[in-house]
Amino acid sequence: MSESGVTTRREGGPMKVGLLTGGGDCPGLNAVIRAVTRRVADAGGSCLGIQEGWRGLIRGMFRPLTPEDVDPTIGMGGTILGSSRTNPYKSPDADVPNLRRNFAEAGLDALIVVGGDDTLGVAARLINDFELPIVGVPKTIDNDLELADFSFGFDTAVNVVVESVERLRTTAESHRRVMVVETMGRSTGWLACFAGMAVGADYILVPEVPIEVPHLIASLRRKREAGKNHAIVLVAEGARYPDASPAVLESDAFGHPRLGGVGSLVAHAIDRQLRAETRTVVLGHLQRGGAPTVHDRVLATRMGLAAAELILRRRFGTVLTLRGSQIADVPLESSVLATRSLDLAYYQDAAAFFY
Ligand code: F6P
Repeated sequence: MSESGVTTRREGGPMKVGLLTGGGDCPGLNAVIRAVTRRVADAGGSCLGIQEGWRGLIRGMFRPLTPEDVDPTIGMGGTILGSSRTNPYKSPDADVPNLRRNFAEAGLDALIVVGGDDTLGVAARLINDFELPIVGVPKTIDNDLELADFSFGFDTAVNVVVESVERLRTTAESHRRVMVVETMGRSTGWLACFAGMAVGADYILVPEVPIEVPHLIASLRRKREAGKNHAIVLVAEGARYPDASPAVLESDAFGHPRLGGVGSLVAHAIDRQLRAETRTVVLGHLQRGGAPTVHDRVLATRMGLAAAELILRRRFGTVLTLRGSQIADVPLESSVLATRSLDLAYYQDAAAFFY
């Protein structure tokens, strides 16, 4: 490995490239798969899809990918490879050797891993522990990775929230109700803030700013008194009261808490304190589903081509970054997988409409 931590192998010849998608799915994943498959095939190599994230490499679940097969998938949501939150380091004695054996037996020269902090965290450990030839591609609808100013999938999710709120607004108006809309965003408020700004929300609650009920109620009351008969409040699922933890429904088998419920708590407070009929809608996985927007198709395609390029140049141990519109790469180490909080300049701009 070089000083930068990046492995550059010099062997030539066509490559066999494994590709997996892990963690929560995200519109744009198929565009990445399509772009990688095309670029590798153009260089004389081939791609092998690994199904259901790390689980597929532990169990040897493969599916060949050809440019012809994947060509029609650019506009499809989800991931044709399937995904999971399986983490081989949860049972390292059994799963890590299986994963390495399957990698070798499949004859893979390299692996592209598309995922969020958990999935890429596993990739970073495999690079560090075994110098596995990996290139990472960041993805998240939450837009909360330091690696990318904007992640593909985020734009689609924002648009889903906007479309949903616009539907909710008409019924809120008819019934003079407050509609509390809970969005995804386990530790950051990018989604709630961007969608909230775009729909002209009356108030937005994000994990970065503790919930202040008196301020929320006072703001909604002012608008009511000024004649606005309904209100839209956006709440990120990770938003919390001062000194409280986020509302957790349960944890999955890998210890990831399932958030949810803060919208109902906020709605209850509004209903009681404002004496306004209030309803809660949890948008949940609607935000991750469906076709990617044009923005996400283009970004994901560019990311896929860039990842394939790194593989073909045998520049392993790297992960893509996006700064402005520029795609680059850095060594894939756990230190680069930090969470990126909402830039509060956006929140302050949104708050001009609810302070
Ligand atoms: O992809 C991130 C995320 O969308 C979070 O905002 C949300 O809490 C989580 O995924 C839900 O994941 P799951 O599909 O495991 O319910």
